[in-house]
Amino acid sequence: MKEDTAQDSHRYQEVAAYVAGLAERGTLAAGARAPSLREVSRQQRVSLSTALQAYRLLEDRGVLQARPRSGYYVAAAAGTRPQRPAMSRHAPRAIDVAVSGFVVQLLAHAADPSLVPLGCAVPSAELLATAHLDRFLARAIRMHGPEHNTYTEPRGDARLRQEIARRAMRWGQALAPEDIVITSGCTEAVALALAAVCKPGDTVAVESPTYFGLLHALEALQLKALELPTDAATGIDLPAMEEALNAQPVHACLLASSFNNPLGFAMDEAKKRSILALLARHRIPLIEDDIYGDLHFGPVRPRPFAALDRAGNTLYCSSFSKTVAPGWRLGWLVPGRHMRTVLDRKFAMTLCGASLPQSAFADFLSSGGYDNHLRRMRRAFADGLARMSDVVAEVFPEGTRISQPEGGFVLWVELPRRIKTRELLDAALAQGICFAPGDVFAAGRRYAHCMRLSCGQGWDTRIEQGLRTLGALSCARS
Ligand SMILES: Cc1ncc(COP(=O)(O)O)c(C=O)c1O
Repeated sequence: MKEDTAQDSHRYQEVAAYVAGLAERGTLAAGARAPSLREVSRQQRVSLSTALQAYRLLEDRGVLQARPRSGYYVAAAAGTRPQRPAMSRHAPRAIDVAVSGFVVQLLAHAADPSLVPLGCAVPSAELLATAHLDRFLARAIRMHGPEHNTYTEPRGDARLRQEIARRAMRWGQALAPEDIVITSGCTEAVALALAAVCKPGDTVAVESPTYFGLLHALEALQLKALELPTDAATGIDLPAMEEALNAQPVHACLLASSFNNPLGFAMDEAKKRSILALLARHRIPLIEDDIYGDLHFGPVRPRPFAALDRAGNTLYCSSFSKTVAPGWRLGWLVPGRHMRTVLDRKFAMTLCGASLPQSAFADFLSSGGYDNHLRRMRRAFADGLARMSDVVAEVFPEGTRISQPEGGFVLWVELPRRIKTRELLDAALAQGICFAPGDVFAAGRRYAHCMRLSCGQGWDTRIEQGLRTLGALSCARS
C-alpha cells in the first residue's frame, strides 16, 4: 500500500472530482457500486486514507452513499429522486384530539415480532448495542446494588444529570445538573412540560404532520391541537404560524428540535430564532422535543431551540430511547422557570425514576464510547433510509412522493390520494407487514393517503421483501 505524502493531502479533492465525473457522465449509474477504496487508491496512486477522505467528501455532497459492510454506492441524482411530500395548506384552527384508540392498536402491532417491522420507530437490539449496555448494568448491580435499592434524589441521579449537562455544552446549551429532571423517557418529559404550562381546554400549536405520541399526550391532558402547515424540507410555514397566533389564543407550542418525526427535516438556526422571537412576542412557551438530535447525517449536530433562546422561554425534552436504551426509560426535562411546578407534579405522580439504570447509564456515558456508537447508528440509519428510498421509488405507484430526512430513521411517504393507508394497513397486516398509516400523525386526520416507514430495525432481505410486497399492494390500489 502507498504511504501518505504531503501531496496526498491535496489530492483527495482531485480524486473526488474524478469519481464525481464518472457519476455525472453516467459511467457509474445511480445505485451502482463505486470502485472500492482499495481500487481507487491503486488506480489513482493515492493512499487509502486519501481515498477515504475523497469518498467522505462525496458522501457529504450527496454524490455517494456509504453502506456498512458493503461499500460506497452512487446516490440517485437530485433530479431523478421522487419529489418531497407536499405541504398541507389548511387554515389552522384549534381542534380536539382523538388518536388514542388507534395509537394503542398500532403499538400492539409494532410490538408483534411476527410482523415485518416497518411501523415501529425503535432501533433493533443489535443496533442499540444492548449487550454492551447490559455489562454496565451488571457491574452497577455487583458494585452498588444495595445502595441503589432506594429512591433517587428528587431530580434523579446526580452523575447522570452531570453527564447530560456535559454533553449539552457541546452544542451551546449551558446547563447545570440542577437544571435537569430525569424522567421516564421523553414521553414523561413532554407530559410534565405540557402540564406545567397548560390547563385543560388550552390550545397547543404543533407541526403537521407530527409524532402521534405528542398528539396522544395532548388528548390525555385535554388540550386542543393547533396544527401548523409544515414543509418536508424547510419546516414550519412561518407566515402561516404568525397568522394563526394572531387569530386565536395559544398557550404553548410543541415542536421537534430537529428531524421531526415523521418528516425528518431540520430547520435552520435563522428560522429557529424567528420562531423564538415570534413566540416571545406572544408570550407563548415553547416545549421542544430533541429526541432525534444526536442522529444527524450532516457533519454538525443541529442546535436545539433551548441553545438559541436568550429569553428562557423554552422547556427542553429528550431521551436516550432512539440511540441506546428505549427499554431503560431514561429521558430528561429542562423546565427552566417551571422547575418547581414540574417537580411537584413528578412527586405526585411517580416520586422518582428507577435508581439503578440511571447510575449504570451514567457509568456508560462517562466511560466514553457513546460518540462512536452514535457514529455507527448514524451511518446505519443514513444507509437504511437511502436503500429504503430507492426501493420505494422503484416499487410504489407513479406519483408517490418521499421525504429526504436529514437525520433520524423514518421516512414519510405520500401516495396518490385515492390510496387510503388505513385500508392498506389491513391488507399489509394480512401479509405479515406493519407500517404506520398517515392519519394518526394529525388530529385533523388529513394524511389518510400517507404512511411512515421506519428503518430502525436495519436493512435485510426480510425488510426489503416486506417493502416490495407493500409496494405491490399499493400499486394494486392505485
Ligand atoms: C418525536 C418523539 N418523541 C418522543 C418519543 C417517545 O420517546 P420515549 O420513548 O423516550 O418516551 C418518540 C418515540 O417514537 C418520538 O418519535
